[in-house]
Amino acid sequence: MLESMREGQVYELILVSKSNVTPIGVVRMRETLHFKLFPGRSFRDLLEHNRVALQMTWDAELLVKTALNLDVKLSFESDGQYRWISGLPGWLGEARCRRDVWADKLGTTEVLKCEFLPEKEIAGDVRPTPFSRADCILVEMAVLFTRHLVRPTSELRDKILDLYSLYRHLGGSSEAAEYIVEHID
Ligand SMILES: Cc1cc2nc3c(=O)[nH]c(=O)nc-3n(C[C@H](O)[C@H](O)[C@H](O)COP(=O)(O)O)c2cc1C
Repeated sequence: MLESMREGQVYELILVSKSNVTPIGVVRMRETLHFKLFPGRSFRDLLEHNRVALQMTWDAELLVKTALNLDVKLSFESDGQYRWISGLPGWLGEARCRRDVWADKLGTTEVLKCEFLPEKEIAGDVRPTPFSRADCILVEMAVLFTRHLVRPTSELRDKILDLYSLYRHLGGSSEAAEYIVEHID
């Protein structure tokens, strides 16, 4: 299943940690998946307990709503060591993480650099979903919005509003997009 991800390309997966669910961008390198976590609940979770699930979804709204902590209906399974979302394919495994410093134009912050070693596959039961440009745009809006929340700039704001126009043009109508536009300052 790992081979379905091209090496070096970023894919958006769902990280299920001890107490949190959040989308993350992962890159496969051979048999492991690499990701970065900026400070937040998942960051803290992984420092305490590094057994996690990485799961796939074709539901752009799920990726976006979990990033924005909006209400989503999910059911979980667990075995004491791991916790995962029922029905979404993916992997259980160990995330080996180290703290580092991250500097970019938003400033300097701590970052957790993690390498995930898949140990067990999670079987999925997912309905086939056709590819949608509107979904891609919604995900991009949400990525920029989470950056805007860390450090608002007029440049980011303009980009998000441009993407919103395209999203609407493509027929998108998720409440998550409305939430972003209503909470942008
Ligand atoms: C599609 C998508 C991908 C994201 N990827 C990452 C990521 O790789 N690392 C990260 O730290 N935050 C990422 N974010 C932002 C987090 O989801 C967001 O900041 C979240 O609130 C994390 O904080 P938490 O751990 O407290 O929930 C992503 C957001 C979206 C919408």
